[in-house]
Amino acid sequence: MNVKLAPSILTADFTRLGEQVRAALVAGAEYLHIDVMDGHFVPNLTIGPLLVRALKPLTRELNVVMDVHLMIERPEQLLPAFIAAGADLVSVHVETCPHLHRTVQQIRETGARPSVALNPATPLSAVEEILPEVDQVLIMSVNPGFGGQKYIPSSTERIARLRRMLDERGLTQIDIEVDGGIKAHNARQVVEAGANVLVAGSAVFNERASIKENIHALRTALG
Ligand code: DX5
Ligand code: ZN
Repeated sequence: MNVKLAPSILTADFTRLGEQVRAALVAGAEYLHIDVMDGHFVPNLTIGPLLVRALKPLTRELNVVMDVHLMIERPEQLLPAFIAAGADLVSVHVETCPHLHRTVQQIRETGARPSVALNPATPLSAVEEILPEVDQVLIMSVNPGFGGQKYIPSSTERIARLRRMLDERGLTQIDIEVDGGIKAHNARQVVEAGANVLVAGSAVFNERASIKENIHALRTALG
């Protein structure tokens, strides 16, 4: 399977953000993952459309998908601003969308590809009806809010179950993105379970090795 890497900038050095993002993309990332948090849905406050716009020339130049993960309440109010700023793929949490079908349509009509995200304790059945309308399902493998958390082991079985659900419905073109605690030691296991887009924050941006070495270690782990 063709696996895509999506570095999350949450643990990057923000004083050197452009340089670090370029290093990650040049080392071989297909997506750039932007974690948007509102201090309400999750207990942290991060990035707005301004930063997406600032990084867009880099993803455009290097032909990388601008992958925006909205961990915010009322995403329908802000998603036009993120899409105007350059989001290619937009994930909304089902837990924040009482009118999920409408929100998914809104993403597509505004010009981006829709993805739906699920917290670790949200049943997969919450996305069952919307599957034909989306391009991706994002499985959270930590509780959203912070980078550098530990992978929740039961996520692997959830990924496998979702992949079966998609196969049974003939929806084989839908991507499964996994987000949280992905490292070289568990990357292969989530891919074998059926994920094909891997978010990695602290495994890419850390003090232990260079960004290039970290991307290569993830790629090597995939075999
Ligand atoms: C968590 C975010 C993730 C996270 C990934 O709320 O959605 O994207 O920052 O970082 P690591 O790979 O460090 O868990
Ligand atoms: Zn994320």
